[in-house]
Amino acid sequence: MTRVLVLNGPNLGRLGSREPDVYGATSYQGLVERCTALGRELGLDVEVRETNSELQMVQWLHEAADGKLPVVLNPAAFTHYSYAMRDAAAQRTAPLIEVHISNPYAREEFRHNSVVASVASGTIAGFGLGSYELALRALAEQLTTR
Ligand code: DQA
Repeated sequence: MTRVLVLNGPNLGRLGSREPDVYGATSYQGLVERCTALGRELGLDVEVRETNSELQMVQWLHEAADGKLPVVLNPAAFTHYSYAMRDAAAQRTAPLIEVHISNPYAREEFRHNSVVASVASGTIAGFGLGSYELALRALAEQLTTR
């Protein structure tokens, strides 16, 4: 089974209680379960992680690059300003899909810029937790046609 890392940035561990009108009522644990269950269906060994630390995120992206691991990345607020994370993502050696639960382009202006989009394989935003599912399906398809 192909290993896939689903990496989540700051405040995503608080899903369920964090601004539920924007991010929905499902908890972070619920997200983990949805992603791992869909992964099993798609033949992917999905590992879901979250961190509030930019250092940790950079190190996970290095791990993915070194291990040729595909990544689904919700960089959360790092999306909008972390050049360190962007430079780590640029070293990818397998597909990397940027995801967002909300549609940042329909929100505050500071969310309209993603520093990671230009080094990602693609971006999926605005479908709630479904954004992760669409990304995993896209990865599964890409990996079989590679
Ligand atoms: C987010 C959008 C970001 O603007 C925000 O900082 C987040 C979550 C999303 O999934 O919609 O923390 O990445």
